[in-house]
Amino acid sequence: MIDLRSDTVTKPTDAMRAAMASAEVGDDVYGEDPTVLSLQERVADLFGHEAALFTPTGSMANVLAVAALVGPGQEVLCESRAHILRAELGAHGALTGLTSRTWSHPDGQIDLAAIEEMYAPDMGPFFVRTTAVSVENTHNFAGGSVLPLSDLQALRAWATSTGCAVHLDGARIWNAHIATGTPLAEYGAVADTISVCLSKGLGAPIGSLMLGTADEVADARIRRKRLGGGMRQVGVLAAAGLYALDHHLDRLAEDHDHARLIAEACGLDPATVPTNIVVIDVPSAADVVAAAAEQGVRIGAVGPQRVRLLTHLDITREDAEQAAKVLASVLG
Ligand SMILES: Cc1ncc(COP(=O)(O)O)c(C=O)c1O
Repeated sequence: MIDLRSDTVTKPTDAMRAAMASAEVGDDVYGEDPTVLSLQERVADLFGHEAALFTPTGSMANVLAVAALVGPGQEVLCESRAHILRAELGAHGALTGLTSRTWSHPDGQIDLAAIEEMYAPDMGPFFVRTTAVSVENTHNFAGGSVLPLSDLQALRAWATSTGCAVHLDGARIWNAHIATGTPLAEYGAVADTISVCLSKGLGAPIGSLMLGTADEVADARIRRKRLGGGMRQVGVLAAAGLYALDHHLDRLAEDHDHARLIAEACGLDPATVPTNIVVIDVPSAADVVAAAAEQGVRIGAVGPQRVRLLTHLDITREDAEQAAKVLASVLG
């Protein structure tokens, strides 16, 4: 089976497993795991933020990061297909008690005019107050689209002028960085808080980080424990993340090439596929998923008439070529 359902399906390589096996560890609830500390410091430095916190999932990193900016009864603005809204099972409402309003863009882009119009400053006991805007780069359900740095900077300038905060869901910020060459620190500079995942394109079996100020991260550490996310000798997991940053970052360009190769075979303009996610509109998603699976290619349905596939570390050039052949025949 060639598994293109997600870039989370990768298995740790032998070299990654060796790095995990030899990691120095300690009790991270006591803040004594040297490998976790080193991962947190390294990732915070990459984005120019004061501090970072290791979390089991991107969802938890998002919950902690958004909660640092938006309190109970306040609102976050985001794009209508944002992962925080569509795919975290209501965690932000259920756990933080916040509300949200959305703008819509076919490519998941920032619509600053819509944000300006929706933005609600503090009006005392009359209206829900907007305290943050959340953006997603790359945007998962919009086909791995990349937010241009200039749009992020314009959002930052507006947010600074109003006192509104910015969260960046950067689960796949690594793909945006490799696709555009934008330094990670430039992405870091536009956001108050960031979440990043090690378990997607980078190929670690688990792990994400929430980034922010030292105070925000100290608070997030308490909230993480409250959520049951206090972890002990997880240097073995942080070691996988450190290994991934050393060895799997630059190779994301291959995943992007493979995605374009498959997209072209499926009749899409490869120029519309900036990173590793391909979204295709089809008459029946269930039929296409089943027909592809019969020929050894697993993809996912993300709507009744929409399928999605992702390329990743475990997909070779030959796999991509074979998947392209199968999908071209399935789509006719
Ligand atoms: C954009 C985005 N943010 C956050 C997440 C959440 O990550 P996790 O599955 O580790 O909770 C995902 C997962 O696919 C994602 O695509």
